[in-house]
Amino acid sequence: MRSSVVWACLAAALLPQSAVAVKEHDFKKCDQSGFCKRNRALADNAAASGADWASPYTVLADSASVKDGQFQATILKTINAQGDTVRLPLTVSFTQSGVARVTVDEERRQNKDIELRHDSKVRKERYNEAEKLVLVGGLELDKTAAVVEDDFEASTNQKVVRYGPEGQFEAHIQYSPFSVEFKRDGATEIKINDRGLFNMDHWRAKVEPKEGDATDAAANEDDGTLWEETFGGNTDTKPRGPESVGLDISFVGYDHVYGIPSHTGPLSLKETRGGDGKYSEPYRLYNLDVFEYILDSPMTLYGAIPFMQAHRQGSTVGVFWLNAAETWIDITKQKVKSNPMALGAGAETDTQTHWMSESGLLDVFVFLGPTTQDVLKNYGELTGYTALPQESAIGYQQCRWNYVSDDDVKDVDRKMDKFGIPYDIIWLDIEYTDGKKYFTWDEKFADPKGMVERLDEHGRKLVVIIDPHIKNVDNYPVVAEMKQKELAVKNKDGSIFEGWCWPGSSHWIDAFNPKAIDWWKTLFTYASFKGTAENVFIWNDMNEPSVFNGPETTMPKDNVHHDGWEHRDVHNLNGMTFHNATYQALLSRKAGELRRPFILTRSFFAGSQRLGAMWTGDNQASWDHLAAATPMLLSQGIAGFPFAGADVGGFFGNPDKELQTRWYQAGVFYPFFRGHAHIDSRRREPYMAGEPYTTIITAALRLRYSLLPAFYTAFHAAHTDGTPILKPLFYTHPDVESAFAVDDEFFVGSTGLLVKPIVDAGKEVAAMYIPDAEVYYDYFDYSVVPTEAGKVTQMPAPLDTIPVLMRGGHAFARRDQPRRSSQLMKFDDYTLVAALSKSGKAEGELYVDDGDSFDYEKGQYIHQRFVLEGSTVSSKAVDAPPKKAGKWLKAMDDVHVDKIVVVGAPASWSGFSAATVTSGGKTWTAPLDYVPPSGGRAAFAIVRHVGVRVGADWEVAVV
Ligand code: NOJ
Repeated sequence: MRSSVVWACLAAALLPQSAVAVKEHDFKKCDQSGFCKRNRALADNAAASGADWASPYTVLADSASVKDGQFQATILKTINAQGDTVRLPLTVSFTQSGVARVTVDEERRQNKDIELRHDSKVRKERYNEAEKLVLVGGLELDKTAAVVEDDFEASTNQKVVRYGPEGQFEAHIQYSPFSVEFKRDGATEIKINDRGLFNMDHWRAKVEPKEGDATDAAANEDDGTLWEETFGGNTDTKPRGPESVGLDISFVGYDHVYGIPSHTGPLSLKETRGGDGKYSEPYRLYNLDVFEYILDSPMTLYGAIPFMQAHRQGSTVGVFWLNAAETWIDITKQKVKSNPMALGAGAETDTQTHWMSESGLLDVFVFLGPTTQDVLKNYGELTGYTALPQESAIGYQQCRWNYVSDDDVKDVDRKMDKFGIPYDIIWLDIEYTDGKKYFTWDEKFADPKGMVERLDEHGRKLVVIIDPHIKNVDNYPVVAEMKQKELAVKNKDGSIFEGWCWPGSSHWIDAFNPKAIDWWKTLFTYASFKGTAENVFIWNDMNEPSVFNGPETTMPKDNVHHDGWEHRDVHNLNGMTFHNATYQALLSRKAGELRRPFILTRSFFAGSQRLGAMWTGDNQASWDHLAAATPMLLSQGIAGFPFAGADVGGFFGNPDKELQTRWYQAGVFYPFFRGHAHIDSRRREPYMAGEPYTTIITAALRLRYSLLPAFYTAFHAAHTDGTPILKPLFYTHPDVESAFAVDDEFFVGSTGLLVKPIVDAGKEVAAMYIPDAEVYYDYFDYSVVPTEAGKVTQMPAPLDTIPVLMRGGHAFARRDQPRRSSQLMKFDDYTLVAALSKSGKAEGELYVDDGDSFDYEKGQYIHQRFVLEGSTVSSKAVDAPPKKAGKWLKAMDDVHVDKIVVVGAPASWSGFSAATVTSGGKTWTAPLDYVPPSGGRAAFAIVRHVGVRVGADWEVAVV
């Protein structure tokens, strides 16, 4: 690196973060990334050549076999005009859940002969260990998958394999050129290499061009980026040369695609090859510290989930591109003249995607739905479901950079109590450490133990930040041990990598190394990390990793990780491995203590949902950032990682009070709900806002706390089968085309609550899109909202009102007594709320466990299903109770459903003043108030002092 660049970077590292705002040009565009440019050029060539385009990949017919749920063969790639070929082993696996997996590698035998271009310590193989870190199940092969057509000799030149739970899926594997068409019930849903863009840059020896000799360079197809690439003053040397993989994937008859977070644009992804309202850059997935990020952009952010869904009326399909290297995805849409299968509205469009990764295997999973939930379930079987969180972690979290002393923390805690503002966790950012040395305390935190004990008195917790950069300084045992045990990431020559981050000169733990995880665990024991206790949890930041003086603010791609893999191969996994190391460490803080870890991560990959929460990083205190958070969080949810939030109030800058208030009202519904602020911003704890704002924010926070049982139930669903916590309308209304692009409102779990955050200054009316003809009630005053299916309705939303509607047909449990923290509400009684549908029914559920241990895995939970039909409300256990109730479950014997609120109660209840309650063989009566409709308000009824155990089956009848 030139010395002027080094100095610019070092100076930047020392400035406060806001002073080094990163602009778009600090990050690569596709044409500044050699492999992206090459693969895009290939797509352009193919398009320009039309029918003359010939993909050079052919399946060797004799090599093909189908056995035990796998199709195996060798693909020959023709690499020059002389007809020389390289061999690429192909496997198409069919799983018992009906997922197809297409994997292409490069034959190792040849690779062994390849000389590395310089004396790097990297492995001579395509990276093939992503699956070890990402996949946790779902791989059992469907041994019944069978060839139903085998006519590669004939003109169709293909093998057809039938698979899937009811044999309703087919993979048509075409040999020459290689392509696969995936069908469901006879209709083509997904095609790969249909446009002939499959590309695997095969390994080759570098041909050094001789002076004045253009031919060698041409023979080597060298565009000047194959062996070395420079960006922003940093040169990436490529010891193995070019090794990108690209593939086109077409969704046939699908107009909408979703997923591939994290980006700031709309939920329904945009086209990326230019034109009105479209992007001209592909969506990029390369985890980076993009602070002050711009909105409505395909630019990369901190985390990457290469999982995409395509949706049309009544059908969702998807793909998961398992590759951890830098990845770009182009999206284009094509109108098709007629669709022979008459698939319904919206099906006259094909969405074509083009995936390009810098290295690694081609490893793509194909999901054929037919529902979004099916796709999410299958994806979750493979990559794991959302961790069931610590209950506190879904309460409100109070953070800023920084609370400056233990007295400061206690003062905030005291003031929150004084103003009656509930919260669960207070957070400490980097300044709590002694000189950014993690696992140490600054002298202003003289008594961390006392601080933590004080928080515990009200059931509150502390989160402290621990980043992956370890300060390179003398007399710091943590760095000394890491060096001595050789657990840090290395330079390409095998020496320890040094770069700059918050502490100045630093080294980075290589959490790909199992020994590094073992060592990391030792740092978190209560004995070792002094001042921490059971109620202390962790925040992992900067784990992309952020390296202030590195290329694009990250680690050089030619750095080397455990087992000789280049950073280039594993970059997008880096954040997850660090998150995982911390997760393992929290599990082993004390022998015999088995509590659920809670760790927030900034960087993530597919699978990170198993380990904790994410947030959308360094947003700004502006209305457009508030607006952008909703589609971003919806996108996380449908990409299998719903435990997501955005900094409430905005990280950079100072929100005015209206913005701050509206942000809290939106935050009430973020699965991860934390207020956070930059070090240069003014203090803005909710009690600082003044009236009427503090009261309005407090009311919003209390709403969140009353809804915690419903949120926890939604987390349980996410944990069990991948159901999103915030549900976009294409998910809840898969047949309603006008709902498919709606991304500024959402349903919450199974509550039927439809929420539209206000995201504009001065706005006092919410234009809410209503997807169906069901009855909708205002959540707060039970008025029946005038609605028309597929149309917008105007909801009054003055500053003290959050637009929340209850869709008829749903029931959920709530806790109405406000308290200081979720832990203090643990054994409070419940209120059951039921909003009757037009046909007079409501259904819902409640899941509850101790919110802390893993005992739920042994049946220590309550899971009840509520049904209101006619004149009866009933509650029935979803699963049989455990043989022996543990301490928590026994304590729940004293917790009751105290109240039942029925919105839209039938007029026939008007004559009743009591309801009959039956449970555990006993019958008693409970007082009932029926309030007739008035003005626009629906009738409602309240049954009081119901007195049924929440964990018991019961029935309440109005007869
Ligand atoms: C960057 C994070 O995104 C931000 O939330 C945090 O406050 C700073 N790092 C300081 O740790």
